[in-house]
Amino acid sequence: MSGTGSCTVVVGCQWGDEGKGKIVDVLAEDVDIVARYQGGANAGHTVHVGDEEFILHQIPSGILHPGKRCVLGNGVVLDVQQFFEEYEALSARGVDVEGRIGVSWRAHLLLPYHRLMDQVSETSAAEKIGTTGRGIGPAYEDKTGRRGVRVVDLANPERLHKRVAAAMERVCARLEALGHEDARDELQERLDEALALGERLLGIATDAGSEITAALKSGKRVLLEGAQGTALDVDHGTYPFVTSSSTTAGGAATGTGIGPTVIDSVVGVVKAYTTRVGEGPLPSAFEAKMDERVRELGAEFGATTGRPRRCGWFDSVLTRFAAQVNGLTALAITKLDVLDTLDELRIATHYRMPDGEVVRGFPADTWSLGSVEPVYETLPGWKTSIRDVRRLEDLPAAARAYLDRIEELTEAPVGWVSVGSQREQIIQVG
Ligand code: GDP
Ligand code: IMO
Ligand code: MG
Repeated sequence: MSGTGSCTVVVGCQWGDEGKGKIVDVLAEDVDIVARYQGGANAGHTVHVGDEEFILHQIPSGILHPGKRCVLGNGVVLDVQQFFEEYEALSARGVDVEGRIGVSWRAHLLLPYHRLMDQVSETSAAEKIGTTGRGIGPAYEDKTGRRGVRVVDLANPERLHKRVAAAMERVCARLEALGHEDARDELQERLDEALALGERLLGIATDAGSEITAALKSGKRVLLEGAQGTALDVDHGTYPFVTSSSTTAGGAATGTGIGPTVIDSVVGVVKAYTTRVGEGPLPSAFEAKMDERVRELGAEFGATTGRPRRCGWFDSVLTRFAAQVNGLTALAITKLDVLDTLDELRIATHYRMPDGEVVRGFPADTWSLGSVEPVYETLPGWKTSIRDVRRLEDLPAAARAYLDRIEELTEAPVGWVSVGSQREQIIQVG
């Protein structure tokens, strides 16, 4: 069954920070609803409108288009305090948010003890993930461990307090074992502050799946906004150096409560090169000097944590895998302008494995990925600014050749090319 409306997923196809916020903001112009389907405040989606920069963490990037409805699906782990801070901050900057945001009854609450556990676990772990410290792992652990607290539980104070008290006992016991005996009082205080926002949250709770399905049936257009990226997906990414949610397109159905058959298209967002923040392998990493140069050119510092992002060449082994996992119908290639001054560009087409075998598929073994040697193709640079280009045919031939090769190797058609962070710096192909 397919509704009469349209449903598009926007999904990151590298290690996050591909420019999903910018692409969602561009596409949101033509839709009625934008919904987030997973993740939480670990996301940092940057949108530039005129001179203003907005970094959205939990609220969908559609919020900057007046009148569009924004929904947080059941797949999200909702940090209640951060959510209302973000809400207020947008409101203070003149964005009319009132009545426009709905949060799924089924979304899990990310509470202060999740944040603390995340930070403490990272500090004490032998093998660090380099998390954002936003409590994501512990919140999803509680969800899949069937110990979580959902938005709907806020409507039943007795049940809520029973579940939260049990969680506090578990967390404090773990914290004590890790040498944090004195955390309880402060944690309880922060927990009480978070739960005091419960009534307010209930006021915007919605049955997200039913709302979106009904909207599609009545001919409305819906955008499902992914956070993180394919290589950070808990199933398909570079496990264990991943986040704890289903970031890929399949997660868009599970994380909002719609059927997968109502999804019409899947737009994969990729940078024209590769970046990664946090621990874990980055096969096509630049050597040090180039790494620094592109980090400067692309302002590659995390939107959530400010950490420097590691940079590398475009990796078509990864994006071809992402095209398969997500069933991409189009690519949106961002930050092409960042490469404007480079003499030549490389694209990884294959990996040479530690045993010498050359492979085209993305290996499941994360540790071997740490020592693969990418096989590169070299293409000439275009050595001119493309930031003002708005039509594909006006791009320099070398830039078009670069895009053509990415399209060929990734096996997905290029639908959009972004040539700057501003809303209007976009080329729509076809
Ligand atoms: P997201 O998490 O996928 O939404 O991406 P981030 O917002 O974390 O990082 C992308 C960064 O690149 C942001 O600072 C954007 O403003 C910026 N950006 C997006 N598209 C372009 C582009 O085409 N060119 C340039 N120069 N910057 C871009
Ligand atoms: P957006 O939506 C880039 C990375 C962290 C760490 C790993 C696990 O802006 O693209 P977590 O806090 O989720 O437990 O951290 O995932 N990570 C991101 N990297 N962009 C993101 O979000 C990320 N969200 C998490 O750096 O390596
Ligand atoms: Mg980001």
